[in-house]
Amino acid sequence: MNNLTLTEMAKRVLSASEVADKIKLSEEYSKTWLKNRKIGNSICIGKVKCPNFPSRPRKPNLLPPRQMPKRKYGTEIGRVALLHSVAHIELNAIDLHWDMIARFSDIKFPLSFYDDWVNAAKDETKHFQLLSELLNDRNSFYGALPAHDSMWDSATLTNDDILGRLAIVPMVLEARGLDVTPNMIKLFEKAGEQRSVEYLKIIYSEEVNHVSYGSKWFNFLCGRDGLDPTPTFHSLVRKYFHSKLKPPFNEEKRAASGLPPDFYWPLTE
Ligand SMILES: [Fe+2]
Ligand SMILES: [Fe+2]
Repeated sequence: MNNLTLTEMAKRVLSASEVADKIKLSEEYSKTWLKNRKIGNSICIGKVKCPNFPSRPRKPNLLPPRQMPKRKYGTEIGRVALLHSVAHIELNAIDLHWDMIARFSDIKFPLSFYDDWVNAAKDETKHFQLLSELLNDRNSFYGALPAHDSMWDSATLTNDDILGRLAIVPMVLEARGLDVTPNMIKLFEKAGEQRSVEYLKIIYSEEVNHVSYGSKWFNFLCGRDGLDPTPTFHSLVRKYFHSKLKPPFNEEKRAASGLPPDFYWPLTE
């Protein structure tokens, strides 16, 4: 049992540079928060100075996206690279959810806001572990290949703007994951890699919740501040996300996450 506030826990996860430490702390603190909430104990949210960037391991080498080696997913080497890039996204996602908790602690939210992001961090921690297991099965590991860091770049632009952060991270970036994961699952199905298929399906089903947490709290804040959610979303995405959204969209899962088509179609042009 520790006496840390939730934001102190978040800061410790963000400040852990070794992957094993980050995973262990994220797992432990998410369990601590959720267990205490279940039995009605209150852990303080508190306030911390959130680090500008999360601490990272020495490996993988981070490259600009354009310098990333091109892959052919029809090959075993290509599929290992794909699993490695998904593991990298999951590690970023762990930090992004704890960052949501630590960075915006000046803004008043119901406690369920924290439940949602702690739950999302817990899921991403498991996702990273599942991907690591698949990499280890192939005699690889997270850090063996280069990775890109553009996911964190778009997050940094919204460091002072909670609505912008909600719009960009869960409602654009994680929603994109819902669009592309079904084809990724098909690719591993075609290669007969059943365990990868099974794990990617677990990840896919849980990612819907993360997008829905984004929509829920985006709408909550718009409602509280008297803003019209749809034009607000459009202007924030145009301000912080410097490319167009790419169809085809997974309309079914986006709808299940509270993202209506008039949120994203106008951003394709
Ligand atoms: Fe994930
Ligand atoms: Fe996620």
